[in-house]
Amino acid sequence: MTLAEDEAFRARVEQQLEGVERRLGQVALGADNPFIAEASRHVINAGGKRFRPLLVALTSHLGPQPSDERMELASAVVELTHVASLYHDDVMDEASMRRGVTSANVAYGNSIAIMVGDWLFSRASSLVTQLGTEFVRLQADTFSELVAGQIGEMRGSDAGEDPLSHYLDVIAGKTGALIRTSVLFGAMTSHAEPRVLEALGRFGMQIGMVFQLSDDLIDITSTTTGKTPGTDLREHVATLPILLLDASEDPEDEPLKQLLADDLADDRELARALSMLRASHVIEEARDEIMARAEAARAELAILPQGPARRALDRVCDEVVSRSH
Ligand code: FPP
Ligand code: MG
Ligand code: MG
Repeated sequence: MTLAEDEAFRARVEQQLEGVERRLGQVALGADNPFIAEASRHVINAGGKRFRPLLVALTSHLGPQPSDERMELASAVVELTHVASLYHDDVMDEASMRRGVTSANVAYGNSIAIMVGDWLFSRASSLVTQLGTEFVRLQADTFSELVAGQIGEMRGSDAGEDPLSHYLDVIAGKTGALIRTSVLFGAMTSHAEPRVLEALGRFGMQIGMVFQLSDDLIDITSTTTGKTPGTDLREHVATLPILLLDASEDPEDEPLKQLLADDLADDRELARALSMLRASHVIEEARDEIMARAEAARAELAILPQGPARRALDRVCDEVVSRSH
């Protein structure tokens, strides 16, 4: 019974996500200018995991009045906001690949990439008005959190501030916030009860942080991400494994610490740093931390009614930990 129910639910969610794709496909058509249409399609059409729309779709079944129309709108809003932030992020990170294609900053130059990011954000802001004031407020506050997280990453920790707690604040802002909002948006489209929204808010923030922690680990461990591996290392962005290494007093960690402090602009130096880091004990330690946080996220699902949506969210906790790209 459960299996058949889960299968039907999966088919239902897939159908919902097809609706979201149709909407995302229509966004560029709203551009009067053919160049803006092309440049804004560049990253949208490259695909991506569509993790945020998936979360909207899953939680859109948790309230008494589900609506495909509202869930599609909410999904488009969070995905467009995410894509907009990627246009900006790739400029700031000087990235050259995104979702397996040339990043927009390389394809069109930094200034255009920033403007197209703004254009996409404007489309998200226009769509969200159709959902009502509560959605508009959450979308606006999420934008502030994204920006604050990104600024925190660029500035680094202040003197006397614990670097690990700074890093956790950064990822809560730059990634946790929009993933939390995706989880909330879905539930809000179906008018879920306040106590469900409260638990989902905590779940979303935690799973969002797990998502970014995994992403940062993948930047080190994977060679098939569709992005340039080692980008964080090269930019000297301290992510969890590096912070664990910094905190280690083991003298055997010294050579790697030295290497990571060097200028890693040279590709061969970067490759050497990556391979040493991949063999380090900090990778396992980072994985343990990620798994503990995924369990904390799972625990928040306990108040949800038993059913296919809850089981699907439970599976998301496993998938976010085990993903490799
Ligand atoms: C990717 O992180 C970037 C983010 C998750 C958020 C970036 C946020 C902004 C640029 C501010 C908001 C701007 C708008 C227009 C909404 P990453 O660089 O660690 O990940 P990556 O490996 O995918 O590049
Ligand atoms: Mg980046
Ligand atoms: Mg970045």
